[in-house]
Order: sequence, then C-alpha cells, then structure tokens
Amino acid sequence: MKKKIKTIYLSIDMDISKLYKRIGKNSWKILDAIFKNLWSYKFVPINVISDFAKVEEEKVRKILKILGDEKVVINKYTKYEGSTLTFTGLSIYSLYRLVENGYVSAIGKKMGEGKESLVYNCISKEGEAVIKFHKLGYQSFKKVVEKRNYGTLNFSVLSVRSAKREFDALKKLQGLAVPEVYGHEGNAVLMELIDARELYKVKVDNAEEFLDMILKEIAKFYRRGIVHGDLSQYNILVSDSFWIIDFPQSVEVGEKGWNEILKRDVITLLRYFRRTYGIERDINSIVENIISDNGNRCDREQEICGRGIER
Ligand SMILES: Nc1ncnc2c1ncn2[C@@H]1O[C@H](COP(=O)(O)OP(=O)(O)O)[C@@H](O)[C@H]1O
Ligand SMILES: [Mg+2]
Repeated sequence: MKKKIKTIYLSIDMDISKLYKRIGKNSWKILDAIFKNLWSYKFVPINVISDFAKVEEEKVRKILKILGDEKVVINKYTKYEGSTLTFTGLSIYSLYRLVENGYVSAIGKKMGEGKESLVYNCISKEGEAVIKFHKLGYQSFKKVVEKRNYGTLNFSVLSVRSAKREFDALKKLQGLAVPEVYGHEGNAVLMELIDARELYKVKVDNAEEFLDMILKEIAKFYRRGIVHGDLSQYNILVSDSFWIIDFPQSVEVGEKGWNEILKRDVITLLRYFRRTYGIERDINSIVENIISDNGNRCDREQEICGRGIER
C-alpha cells in the first residue's frame, strides 16, 4: 500500500489532491494537533499546538500563516493567538489519516455534492470506493446552540460527529441494502462506490413492487435498531438493484423521538410514490407493520437472501 496519494484523475475537482501534495510533514503534525484539540477549543491556542505537535512556536506560526493562505486553517489573533480547521482543512486531514492507515491510496474526482457533504471517488484497499466528507454545521453555524468550554461548539466537531453517526449506522446495517462501509476518519466515511442513480431521476417499472421492497428494507433496518431519519427519493440509489444512503440523521430505536422519525420517513416515501406513480397506501398500517414482529423476523442470513433483488 503506497502511503502518498499518487494517482490523480484529470478533473476540475482535483484541488484536494493538489493541495494534499503541497502539505509537508510539519504541517500534518500541526493539523493533527489542531484536530485533536478541537473538542476543547474553538480556536486552538498556538502554544497548545506547538506543545502537542512538538514543533517550535515560531515555526508553527510561519506554517499556520501558509495554511491560512491555503484556506486550510483560520487563524485568529484577537484575545489570544489560535487556529481552527476549515472544512477543507478538516477534510484533507481526514484524507491524510485514511491514507496513513492504509485505507486509501488515491483520490479521484468529485462524484456528488449534497446539502451536507462532498463525495469523491477514490482507490481504497477494497478497490474503487467513495469518500464522503461531512460538512454539517458549516452553513448553519449560527444556529448551533450547543455550548462547550469555549462557547459555540466547533463546526468541525459537528461534522466529525455526523460522520461517526453515519459510519455506526452503516456498520449495523451491513448486508442489507446499504453501501458496504470500509472505514471512518475525522469527517470522512469510506464506503463502497454505488454505480446507480437517485430514485427521483429514474422511472421504475414496477413501482408497487419496488415500494414494497423499500418498505421491507426499512423493516429490516428497524430490526437492526436503526431508523434512517432522512429517507427520501434523493437518498435511494437505483440501478438493477437499490441502495439506501445518507445516514447521519439516523437514530437508534429507543432514542428520543424515534417513532415520529420513522413515521416521517414513511410519510416522505409514500408522498413521493403517490405523486409520481399514483400509489395510495395507508401510512398507519405500514408503520404498524414495520414495528410489529408479525412473522417478519428472520435471522441475518435470511435477511440477506430475502432482499428480493439480487445485487
Ligand atoms: N456510496 C456512494 N456511491 C456513489 N455515490 C454516492 C455514494 N454516497 C453518496 N453518493 C452521491 O453523493 C450524493 C450526496 O450523498 P449523501 O450521502 O446523500 O449526502 P447528503 O447528506 O449531502 O445528501 C448522493 O446523492 C449521491 O449522488
Ligand atoms: Mg442525501
């Protein structure tokens, strides 16, 4: 496994790999020091960075200035001197960790951009894969009310939390209609590349049957203790099979509000099938069916075999 990112695809979105190559050894140490202290400081004081990175303060200051110009960090000089990671900084650091840990050997082009993520394709030790960089809270920073130590919680921390939530949910759902998940570092989740299109972009042939298959999958998620939380035509990928993606808003069964969240998911799904395919279903009986045991219980083997669509 090569340690440095060598392969790059020719694409206008290759900034991340270009930038990656420009960052030197001491800079990585400094980014590591900032990352590890983001839970205690919104802006990590320069002396803390220097101590943690074991790089002399003057040198740290010089490097931070360059990283600031590259928009990898934000430096502030009021009250005390300190630095924090930008979304680019957090993402490139997370990529570095995936590379250092031998998960990823090359990053490719941007594949998708959601409201709260950037998705790149990459070469992982499992072959072609995708990295989803979470950017939760960057847009709605002002709305974040959570407080800790030094005021508003760092938006990088929120993004890391969001990536972890997605990774944990995917881990629990492996073998069902979700991407295989390979790893997680910082705000990055490394997962299987799905070659398919979002449901809202395709016309499915047998919509009734297709809807039933999705609902069955939701019931299997429920039996593994997970409610999606953001289920919609945008988060279902379809080709000759289907996959459900995008789990940062998932909740565990039993967590506060889980049943309302499950109901909301089903309502959104049914609304789409009603408007697009004229299918009418009764929401209450569907939700009841999902949460009742109702002979649906099966062991993991059967769940995988019983998916209805071959992968
Ligand atoms: N595993 C994957 N394989 C291929 N494309 C993906 C994968 N995961 C996400 N995408 C693409 O990236 C987009 C955004 O990802 P998503 O997980 O839905 O995040 P967001 O919360 O930003 O909507 C998706 O709509 C899809 O086009
Ligand atoms: Mg999405």
